[in-house]
Amino acid sequence: MSMTLFDDNANIQRLNELRKIILEYDYAYYVEHKSLVDDFTYDKLYRELQKLESEYPDLYDPNSPTNKVPSDKISSFRKIAHSERMLSLQNTYSIDEVRDFDRRCKELLGVNQLDYLVELKLDGVSLSCVYQSNRLKYAVTRGDGELGDDVTMNALQISNLPKNISPTGRLVDGNFEVRGEVIMTKKEFAELNQKMLEQGQKTFANPRNLASGTLKLLDPNEVGKRPLNFFAYYLLSSALGQSTLDENLKILQEIGFKIIPSHKVCKSIEEIEEFIIEWENKRDELPFYIDGLVIKVNSIRQQQELGTISRFPRWAIAYKYSAEQVETKLLDITYQVGRTGIVSPVAELEPVELAQTIVKRATLHNEDYIKTLDLRVGDYVIVEKGGEIIPKVVGVNFEKREANSVPFEFPKFCPCEHKTPLVKYEDEVAYYCLSMDCPWQIRKKIEHFASRNAMNIEGLGERTIDQFVELGFLNNIADIYDLTKYADQIEKLEGWGKKSLEKLLNGIEESKKQPFENVLFALGIRYVGEFVAKIISKEIGSIDKLITMTYDELMAINQIGDKIAKSIKEFLQNNENIEIINKLKHQGLQFESHHSTNSSNLNKFNNLTFLFTGELENYTRNQAEKIVEGLGGKVVSSVSKKLSFLVVGNNPGSKLKKAQDIGITIINENEFIKLIDNE
Ligand code: IVH
Repeated sequence: MSMTLFDDNANIQRLNELRKIILEYDYAYYVEHKSLVDDFTYDKLYRELQKLESEYPDLYDPNSPTNKVPSDKISSFRKIAHSERMLSLQNTYSIDEVRDFDRRCKELLGVNQLDYLVELKLDGVSLSCVYQSNRLKYAVTRGDGELGDDVTMNALQISNLPKNISPTGRLVDGNFEVRGEVIMTKKEFAELNQKMLEQGQKTFANPRNLASGTLKLLDPNEVGKRPLNFFAYYLLSSALGQSTLDENLKILQEIGFKIIPSHKVCKSIEEIEEFIIEWENKRDELPFYIDGLVIKVNSIRQQQELGTISRFPRWAIAYKYSAEQVETKLLDITYQVGRTGIVSPVAELEPVELAQTIVKRATLHNEDYIKTLDLRVGDYVIVEKGGEIIPKVVGVNFEKREANSVPFEFPKFCPCEHKTPLVKYEDEVAYYCLSMDCPWQIRKKIEHFASRNAMNIEGLGERTIDQFVELGFLNNIADIYDLTKYADQIEKLEGWGKKSLEKLLNGIEESKKQPFENVLFALGIRYVGEFVAKIISKEIGSIDKLITMTYDELMAINQIGDKIAKSIKEFLQNNENIEIINKLKHQGLQFESHHSTNSSNLNKFNNLTFLFTGELENYTRNQAEKIVEGLGGKVVSSVSKKLSFLVVGNNPGSKLKKAQDIGITIINENEFIKLIDNE
């Protein structure tokens, strides 16, 4: 279809509009330290403009934001010229485009193999630090790439930025330049922003804006009061000859610079993809924000050969994690109690559309997560949905925080009506309700006990359990087998009748036939999932023997590690648990196994490879991997065509999408359990 004049007019209008909007966004971001849009939207508009400009080359304008490095210059600072232009990076959200980048680099260089340095992309402000005779001479912002602002006095306040270097043989004359990123950690940001809010000062939406605002303060004493960190990523020195980026990072470390934590020399696109996937999952755990990874040709000679195009080097690209973000109000923080007593905080959000779904709730993980971000009820928070299915809260818009907001405190008591004091173990982040009578836990414990893979009690679903706990018919799992006592009452309940009651009582009776391994799993001992229950059933054979076993004897069993052994001991040393076990025994449940060891099972995964993504409910990652290995299979770390199964838990990472793209067999945790249990 040919373009009409009408299309042209509309496109040209859009092109001009985009140039104007992007220039406005750039000014707000670089000069006023404000983000008017999120990165994802900015990049989308930027790409739209790039595309339109390539369709209308006649409209070339050297002042278009696509041709100029956005300037961060402020008139009050002295200007200094960079020895080498400070460039920007071409961004991409697609692995395919990283593959294109790899292909292009190899083609242009005429090589079949290339080494890349892949590094975390810190979300901060770039700074060039020039050293003469081993002393920091001046520090300059990127400015427009050619000329930057002299912020030396402020940079002197950055405590981890080396001011004097001990002479080293590698940098003979002590004249060199170090480029890197100035950042503030999530925690430092939250604390400082709060202080500023209390003092009625201007607050900032994110650590990057606060770091850039701080670097441009006119009073260095004020800068000194704020925590800034410098992470080096580039060393320029004529003394180095033709080196590689990773060698230069080593030198930087030797002479006292902090380099960006985690980088890898990747020798193939597969290794790059692996690193991308690894960090997609791990990035939340970092104390600072990253917005992606930077992939750079490792050899400086090859970098020079590739050169630059417009404002971007041809030898580097930024892969950004494709997180769609929206801002919404945090209406409340509520709590869920799991069957092991873990109390998990949940964000109750003002409903908002995100990646085609309406989001009302998001996980908040634990107390540390909330405190690191300094989330408070009433805040406007940033909610993100990346490769994961479950949305997460990743930050606060402090500009919108109410002055009277109250810092978050994890509750001291269980949210159930018993209000039992919560307990936190030294080496864990979670809070526990240890009460055996907590109705919320009881519900979850009974739900687990009755579930399909445990006792498989037909007719005893979530709603019925809630109802019976409420009515006091069920106080623990053993009460299920006494429900006959309430038969008359149940029959008369709304929604119940003779038939449904019969079905329930039948289901309960039938469940008594479930084998020992199911009963063991159903008890809900922490870390004793279906697989471990099966091992115990085969290797130990009865609950009586299990009760008498010592920690060391348990540890001697293949597949049982420290956590499992401790948890079993703890559970079986508790009198209330023993009482329940005795009641269940009395009711006729199977507490002895009847099968013999089946060793052929141990090789059933021969030649099969597994990869896990997301959190599993029944196993830790380590346990699941041990299981696969115990059955003769192999666990690999990245998705490739050779992968036999991708096992997907809660919150899967980008491996899922990749596996879908290349047609790998994807299974969920239940299917995985079936696979390991199926003899
Ligand atoms: S290398 C040619 N490595 O990202 C530019 N930059 O979007 C070479 N950045 O201006 C830059 N982390 O301020 C590089 N590990 C990293 C980085 C990084 C953050 C920033 C840097 C740059 C911007 C480009």
